[in-house]
Amino acid sequence: MNPIEFYQIKSQENYETARTRAIDNPELFWSEIASTFSWFKKWDQILSFDWSIPKTEWFINGKLNITVNCLDRHVDKNPDKLAILWEPNDPNDKSVKYTYSELLSLVCKFANGLKNQGIKKGDRVCIYMPMVPELTIAVLACARIGAVHSVVFGGFSAAALSTRINDAKCNLLITADGAFRGDKTVPLKKIVDEALDECKSIKKCIVLQRTFQKIKWNERIDIWWHDFIEGLSDYCEPEVMDSEDPLFILYTSGSTGKPKGMVHTCAGYMVYTAYTFLNVFQYKQGDIYWCTADIGWITGHSYMIYGPMAVGATSVHFEGIPSYPNWNRFWKVCEKYKVNQFYTAPTAIRTLAKQPLKLIDGHDLSSLKVLGSVGEPINLEAWNWYNQNIGKNKTPIVDTWWQTETGGIMISSLAGVTDQKPTFATKPIPGIRPVLLNNEGQEIIEKEAEGILAIKFPWPGIARTIYGDHTRYKEVYFNAYEGYYFPGDGSLRDLDGNFRITGRVDDVVIVSGHNLGTAPIENSINEHKDVAESAVIGYPHEVKGNALMAYVILKSKIETSKLTVELRDLVSNQIGPIAKPEKIIVVSGLPKTRSGKIMRRILRKLAAGDFEKLGDISTLLNPEVVDEIKNKLAK
Ligand code: WT7
Repeated sequence: MNPIEFYQIKSQENYETARTRAIDNPELFWSEIASTFSWFKKWDQILSFDWSIPKTEWFINGKLNITVNCLDRHVDKNPDKLAILWEPNDPNDKSVKYTYSELLSLVCKFANGLKNQGIKKGDRVCIYMPMVPELTIAVLACARIGAVHSVVFGGFSAAALSTRINDAKCNLLITADGAFRGDKTVPLKKIVDEALDECKSIKKCIVLQRTFQKIKWNERIDIWWHDFIEGLSDYCEPEVMDSEDPLFILYTSGSTGKPKGMVHTCAGYMVYTAYTFLNVFQYKQGDIYWCTADIGWITGHSYMIYGPMAVGATSVHFEGIPSYPNWNRFWKVCEKYKVNQFYTAPTAIRTLAKQPLKLIDGHDLSSLKVLGSVGEPINLEAWNWYNQNIGKNKTPIVDTWWQTETGGIMISSLAGVTDQKPTFATKPIPGIRPVLLNNEGQEIIEKEAEGILAIKFPWPGIARTIYGDHTRYKEVYFNAYEGYYFPGDGSLRDLDGNFRITGRVDDVVIVSGHNLGTAPIENSINEHKDVAESAVIGYPHEVKGNALMAYVILKSKIETSKLTVELRDLVSNQIGPIAKPEKIIVVSGLPKTRSGKIMRRILRKLAAGDFEKLGDISTLLNPEVVDEIKNKLAK
C-alpha cells in the first residue's frame, strides 16, 4: 500500500477508532501519521504545549522540507504523475498539464533564481499574482529554500498590499503584468507600483508576463520572470528546515485594526493538511480533485497546494470565474476533466442556483463522487440545490468548518464514510476536541446545546503566532477562555454530537466567504472629510450570506448618493472591492451604552429587519436614535 494511504479512514468504525485513539494518545496518533512522510531527521519529542504562553510545538527537532514531500517523493516513484491540470480564464486558450517531475524542475529553477537574488531561509517573499501555475511554482520555490511566503490575494488594493508587505518586511515581490478575470483585466503591476511607493523593504520585483498589457517598468527593481530563470539549473537542493520553522504567513482580518499575519510552520501543517485532505475528501490515487478557491486564501494554500500535493493528488487549478464566458463554466470544467471531488463555497453555490437549470443539464457530471463546501455556513436551500442538481441526490457533501488560523479542516463529515447532516459541519476530525462554552466560559455538558465554540487540545495545524505580535495572538485566541483556543464562532450541537456553526460571535463578518473585520472598514469610512463617525455591521444577504451596512454620522452636509459613491470608492481603494458596504445610511446618532460603546447587537438586529426583539433599550444613552433608524430602514 502507498504509505500515505495507510491512515485513510474507510468506515464509520475506523473513524470511531481513530477518534478514540487520537484522544487517548494524541502523540502516538499523530506521530504514526507523521512517520509516513519523508524526513531528513525524525523528531526528538512529539508535542510540547503551554497555552498560557501560548506555545504549541509538534515533532520537535524534526528536520524536513515540505517540497520533498510534495514533489520529490512522488517524482521518485512516478515522475509522470499529473500534479496540476490548469484551466485558463478563457476556454479558447490552451490548458496546460504539469506532471510532478515538470513541476519539480520549474520549482527548482525558480528557487535557484531566488537564491541568486540573495533570498535565503527566513526571508519573507510577497506573492501577488493571478491564478496561474507560476503562482504555485513561486510558493513552492520559497518553501524549497526556506523563504517564508506571504501570498496576498490578487483582489486586494494597493494600500492593503503595502500594509501586508510592510508588516512582514518582505524583501522581494513576485507579481504579473496583469490578471485575466472574466472579460476584464486587472492591472496587477500598476497596483504593485502604487503599493511599492510605500514599501522600502522590497529590493526586487519579479514580473510574470500574463496579459501582455503595457506596464511601467522600474529598471532599479523590476525583472521579468523569464529573464529571472534564464539558464538556471532545474535542480535545487532542498533547504533543511526545522519542524517549527515558519513556512508561510497569511493575513486574515481581525475585529480590530490591522490584519493578522498568521504564521504556519513546516511539519505540523504538512501532516495536518495531508491527513485531512485524504480523509475528508476520501481522495483515491488517480482521482481528479478540484477546489475552486483562490490560492490567495488559506483554502488555496491547504487544499490546492500543500494537502493535495503531499499525497500526490492530481488537481484542477482554474484561473477564471464561474460566470465567464457563461454561467455553465464550472460544469464545463467538471465535465472536461472528469472531476471526482469538487470543493467550493456557499456563496458560489447560491449564485449558481440563481441561474437556469438548463445550464447544468447539458453536462455530464457523472464523475463527481464528492462535493464540498467551505467558508461560511451553508443554508438548507443552497445545500438542497447542491445535493439535487450537482450531486444528483447520491453524492456525499462535506461541509468543512475551519479557519486560516487552524491550517486545515477541523469539523466535517468524511465523504461517504461518516454521516452527513444538512447545514451541520457534523463531527470533529480525529484529534480535534471541540467544546461549547457558556458566557461564563464553562463547558456545556448537555449534548444538545448552543454556545461558544472552543477547542481544548492542540492539533498539528494550528497557526503558531501572529507575525511580529505574539501578544495579540494570545489576546485574540487564548485570553478569552483560559485553556482553550477561541475561534470566534458560535455553534449548536445536536444529540448525536453534530456541530452546526451558527456564525461569528465577534466583529468579523463573512461576506461571500471572505472574512472581513468591521473596524478597518470603519477606519476608512471615517477618513471621508464629511464623516464624523460610523459603524459597520453585517446583515443576512440572500446570495452573499452576509452583506455590510454602514451607519454614518455626518459632520458636514453632503448628498447621500454622492456620499455613497465616495465611501464605496474609499473602502474599495483602501481595502478592496470585497469590503464595499452594500448599504450606507446616514443617521444622526448611533445607539450607545452609557459608557459610550456602540451597541452593535442592536444595529445588527435593525439591519436584519428584526425590529421586534431588540431587548431593553431604555438603558441606552440615546434610545431615541433607535426609532430614527427604524424609520430610515423602513423606507
Ligand atoms: C471563518 C474563517 C476555512 C477556510 C476559508 C475561510 C467561517 C468557514 C465554515 C463552515 C460555517 C464557516 C467561520 C470561520 N466558516 N467554514 N463550513 N460553516 N462557517 O477562512 O477566512 O479564516 O474564515 O469562516 O466563521 O471562523 P477564514
